[in-house]
Amino acid sequence: MHGEVIPTGAALGAEIKGLDLSKPLTALETDLIREAWLDHSVLLFRDQTLDDDALIEFSRRFGKLELSPASADDAAGGQVNSQPEIWIISNVVEEGQPIGALGDKEADWHTDMSYVEEPPMGSVLYSLEVPEVGGNTSFANMYKAYEQLPAVLREAARELTCHHDSSTTSVGETRVGFEGVWDVRDAPGAVHPMVRTHPETGGLALYLGRRRNSYIPGLELEDSEDLLDELWAHCTKPEFAWTHRWKKGDLVMWDNRCAIHRRDAFSPRVRRVMHRTQISGDKPR
Ligand code: OGA
Ligand code: MN
Repeated sequence: MHGEVIPTGAALGAEIKGLDLSKPLTALETDLIREAWLDHSVLLFRDQTLDDDALIEFSRRFGKLELSPASADDAAGGQVNSQPEIWIISNVVEEGQPIGALGDKEADWHTDMSYVEEPPMGSVLYSLEVPEVGGNTSFANMYKAYEQLPAVLREAARELTCHHDSSTTSVGETRVGFEGVWDVRDAPGAVHPMVRTHPETGGLALYLGRRRNSYIPGLELEDSEDLLDELWAHCTKPEFAWTHRWKKGDLVMWDNRCAIHRRDAFSPRVRRVMHRTQISGDKPR
């Protein structure tokens, strides 16, 4: 039995040392990872050497895989030569074609694919090439954000839902096949409870998706905007967050049900290439 769990000391996240993820995991190792994942919401494994098959095989230990957003709906991002489960996240352009999605700009705080009825429970992101500076990924603990809301707001949030816009990516691009959003009340996407009960831990977590184009059904537009601004200002406070500075060979897996994430911008002159899988999840409730 290998695998040592070392919490980051921040509001979430832990590193697991001593596991080679290119080898099939034993049942005990898989259990250790799952338990640590549920406890810490984000896990880091350093110095891994994985091809796409190994990344897919590792990810499958934790659930059925979703097709990548690009394979599923033909959205932006080259995806040439990749398997349908792998989403390439990269700013690299080859022969005039981006090889992946999300470019080099800042990606705002978000939950992956919360705009579908059954959003993925988690994502697994593996780094093949990373810049020396910039492109860090931060995570925030939405259990703690919920717990530490003022009591009145905490009660109010439990009665509300949130509409999650499906038309726009975390870097602000309109997905292929969508028009821009002119009125957030008419945006496409799914409605979920604003506070979800984690199906495995039973914990309550604030579930907001992303700020851009969100709307709280039943509220006047202005009230929805004000409340969303207040909730976002709260949950993105540094005390709820941990930032990961990538090295090549890092694998990070996060629980999309109770953590949000964002990415810093980086120089367009440097290369960043990441491969991602997404593990199927259930309907938030
Ligand atoms: C993602 C994502 C951030 C990053 O993979 O879902 O938001 O650091 N990526 O590239
Ligand atoms: Mn993301």
